[in-house]
Amino acid sequence: MRIPENKIEEIRSAVNIVDIIAEFVNLRKRGQNFLGLCPFHNEKTPSFTVSEEKQIFHCFGCHAGGNVFKFLMDYEKISFVEAVKSVAERLGIQIEYENQAGTEKQSEQEMLYDVNEIAMKYFSDILLTKEEGETGRKYFQQRKIKNQTIREFNLGYAPYKRDAFVEYAKNRIDLEKAMQLGLIGRGKEGNLFDKFSGRIIFPIDSPNGRVVGFGGRILEKNEYAAKYLNSPESIIYTKGKLLYGLSHAKDEIRRLNKVIMVEGYMDLISLYQNGIKNVVAVSGTALTEDQVVLLSRYSKNVVLLFDADIAGVKASMRSIEILLKKDFEIRIVSLPKGEDPDSYVNQFGKEKFDELVKQAVSFHEYQTALYEAEGYFTDSARSAEAIRNLVKSLSLISDELKRNFYIKSISKRFGIRENLLESELDKLLVKDVKQETPAKDSFRSNKVFPNKEIKITQEIQFLERDIILLFLTGSPDIIKFVFSHINPEEFLIELNRKIAELIYEEFNKKGSFEVAAVIDTIEDEEVKDYLQLLSIDQYSLSSSWEKLYPKQDNSSVLSKVCMDTMKKFKSLQMDNQIKDILSQVQNVSSEEEGRELLHILDQYQADKKRLNEEFN
Ligand code: GTP
Ligand code: MN
Repeated sequence: MRIPENKIEEIRSAVNIVDIIAEFVNLRKRGQNFLGLCPFHNEKTPSFTVSEEKQIFHCFGCHAGGNVFKFLMDYEKISFVEAVKSVAERLGIQIEYENQAGTEKQSEQEMLYDVNEIAMKYFSDILLTKEEGETGRKYFQQRKIKNQTIREFNLGYAPYKRDAFVEYAKNRIDLEKAMQLGLIGRGKEGNLFDKFSGRIIFPIDSPNGRVVGFGGRILEKNEYAAKYLNSPESIIYTKGKLLYGLSHAKDEIRRLNKVIMVEGYMDLISLYQNGIKNVVAVSGTALTEDQVVLLSRYSKNVVLLFDADIAGVKASMRSIEILLKKDFEIRIVSLPKGEDPDSYVNQFGKEKFDELVKQAVSFHEYQTALYEAEGYFTDSARSAEAIRNLVKSLSLISDELKRNFYIKSISKRFGIRENLLESELDKLLVKDVKQETPAKDSFRSNKVFPNKEIKITQEIQFLERDIILLFLTGSPDIIKFVFSHINPEEFLIELNRKIAELIYEEFNKKGSFEVAAVIDTIEDEEVKDYLQLLSIDQYSLSSSWEKLYPKQDNSSVLSKVCMDTMKKFKSLQMDNQIKDILSQVQNVSSEEEGRELLHILDQYQADKKRLNEEFN
């Protein structure tokens, strides 16, 4: 049973998000928007904003946001369907359900989610209720994991039989899909077999709590099989974009404005069971930039809690770099040798664990201590190397004050003049700026001659933003007009390009575009956040336009601004292309190439002339 898509849309457009949120949050009108104290994190000055016009909410403090359903889901901790029902009830709208086999075809993604959901229930059912689950139950008991925790994380067990899941699945799901998801494999003779058989199962969730893959731990040590087996990547699962446990931990992370990062599934689960719930696990892969961006939506204060072994130290060092680049505040806890967070908390309990976290040191102290422990500072050459490395980490911090603070600390500790360290730092900072490459372009010239990098100027930033703001007006005429002149891929800034692509797709599908209708389907947190920000920000196109064109009615102003913006964008684009060709003309290697370039140049100049005519 499901609620038809158009019914959901009907309910969403019938309700006013301000009315719903005002039931729970004290809202005050501020300009176009409503403002209140964010219910999703602790704050004293309000940064929780609701836009009546755009029908979405957004918190500038903790980046929570979405449409009316998302608010109810997060606030009342209910499912999507329950949120839709709850709004429908308030409005007195009847809901008709349709069968799964109803008119609407499920999307490919939805089908994969379903297969994972069925597999998850199967594994969990075996563990909790079936005879074949006894081995699994014993294992968890021995590792001190309670049934309640097993339920909460939907842990499971895949029986040792080679094709138990194949048998179970064959009348229930599309086996091709199960293969695609790495649940089932095909042997040389074409026989199907269970990939996870004999393993403890950890379902891996998206931040919204949908099962995207599995981790499976072998029970006994076995040199022929990997200790952990993970689902392969699929259209619903990209390893470097998820953090294990985030769907469980996100509220607590926001509440405490702090996240503890561990390496393993078991570490996370044991901490959680012991009441430490603001934890995520990187689960075996090196921390990626995408994961850090994802995390930054919830908190930028991170405590690293990696194993004390060499792999753990290496992982910490790499993670520190990535986290520093994204402005995280980093603390690091060192565990006693031979312990991991799971063994530590089970042996010593929560209080001792909390104490340990309190003793966390800054990344700088941590790095210094490591070099010290390895004897770097007893030898002057190696000592210089270590200090250079320390300064290198500092160069990743964007906050100048913070950098200065650490420079002072190095200076004091090692008796090195501050300005010497500063000049070392400056060298690194200059290098960094040079390495920043602007987004790639996709003008037609690059098919013939690879285009040089185009510098993203402030003018481009503003123009692209204005075009997105034009889309956000929701006016079909405007959107159609814009897309008839530019393709989404023409946006130079990646984030804008992604947003344009999304709007393009939605508009082509439905003939309309409304932020609130799509905001909660966006998986890319950065895109979602920026879209919310643009929708809700005090900056609005209209206010600056009204100054430009006073005393004219709204829609004629809008179309003027639209023409204007498009013209500027196009003409800037052409200028860039012309500039690029001109620079290429100077270093041609053959006459023929030169002729071809001049020909292209002619075309651009003609294009530009046409543009001026068209938009005047
Ligand atoms: P337990 O031994 O059950 O306590 O697990 P652990 O998490 O302590 O294991 P370990 O410290 O060996 O590994 C940490 C994390 O690295 C695991 O939770 C896995 O996510 C990952 N990992 C370890 N071994 C493997 C492996 O063989 N393959 C893959 N893909 N990941 C692994
Ligand atoms: Mn362990």
